[in-house]
Amino acid sequence: MSKLRVHSFSISLDGYGAGPDQGLDNPLGVGGETLHEWVFPTRTFQQMYGNDSGTTGINDDFAVRGFANIGAWIMGRNMFGPVRGSWPDDDWKGWWGDNPPYHCPVFVLTNHPRASIVMDGGTTFHFVTDGIHAALKRAMEAADGRDIRIGGGVATVRDYLRARLIDEMHLAISPVLLGGGEHLFAGIDAAQLGYRCTEHVPMTDVTHVVLTKQG
Ligand SMILES: NC(=O)c1ccc[n+]([C@@H]2O[C@H](COP(=O)([O-])OP(=O)(O)OC[C@H]3O[C@@H](n4cnc5c(N)ncnc54)[C@H](OP(=O)(O)O)[C@@H]3O)[C@@H](O)[C@H]2O)c1
Repeated sequence: MSKLRVHSFSISLDGYGAGPDQGLDNPLGVGGETLHEWVFPTRTFQQMYGNDSGTTGINDDFAVRGFANIGAWIMGRNMFGPVRGSWPDDDWKGWWGDNPPYHCPVFVLTNHPRASIVMDGGTTFHFVTDGIHAALKRAMEAADGRDIRIGGGVATVRDYLRARLIDEMHLAISPVLLGGGEHLFAGIDAAQLGYRCTEHVPMTDVTHVVLTKQG
């Protein structure tokens, strides 16, 4: 049975997964890039962008886990790009260039229909307008027995969490305060939903936490 997994999802000490005022100049929201400083130097992240170098060790091990046995991704439309509302044209094809680091089908949740986009390297972006369950069904079919990873952003993770559909969620808690933006847990009682912390690994630059759905 395919699992629905979240990996390397970085949050601030005060619980934000993106800073305020997302846009072309601030894809992660203002200050949002500070959440990810633990992952930028890792070999996994560097290799995604064609560099041979990069750090190994616990941070990289967590990054590596996020790509194991993944057959499809789901993401929200705000993670896909800065365009909001109706798509003015077909120009925007994601932040990641011609060969995005997914290499499998990616299902983008949106209320605004758009034709699928075939990219280099095996990534195809499909736009899903009929909700999180429909996106998950399509992702499961595409994954063909492998797992599905939710890339983000915050609203998308929250929706799947509230619906108790996420099986495993790796959070990377970064030692920064954002003070505003998109909050991951506001109004969500993850314990009541049946999630428990099954791993926690403190590093000097980040604390890794894994939440697993019980039962
Ligand atoms: N902290 C991390 O590790 C991490 C990881 C990934 C991304 N991010 C960041 O998170 C931010 C984006 O997060 P976000 O919370 O703003 O948004 P998001 O989850 O990426 O996207 C939300 C949008 O997706 C569409 N959508 C979501 N659920 C839907 C549904 N059920 N049916 C139809 N459409 C649906 C809606 O767009 P429309 O109605 O406009 O179509 C909604 O406004 C970015 O800054 C990104 O860089 C952070």
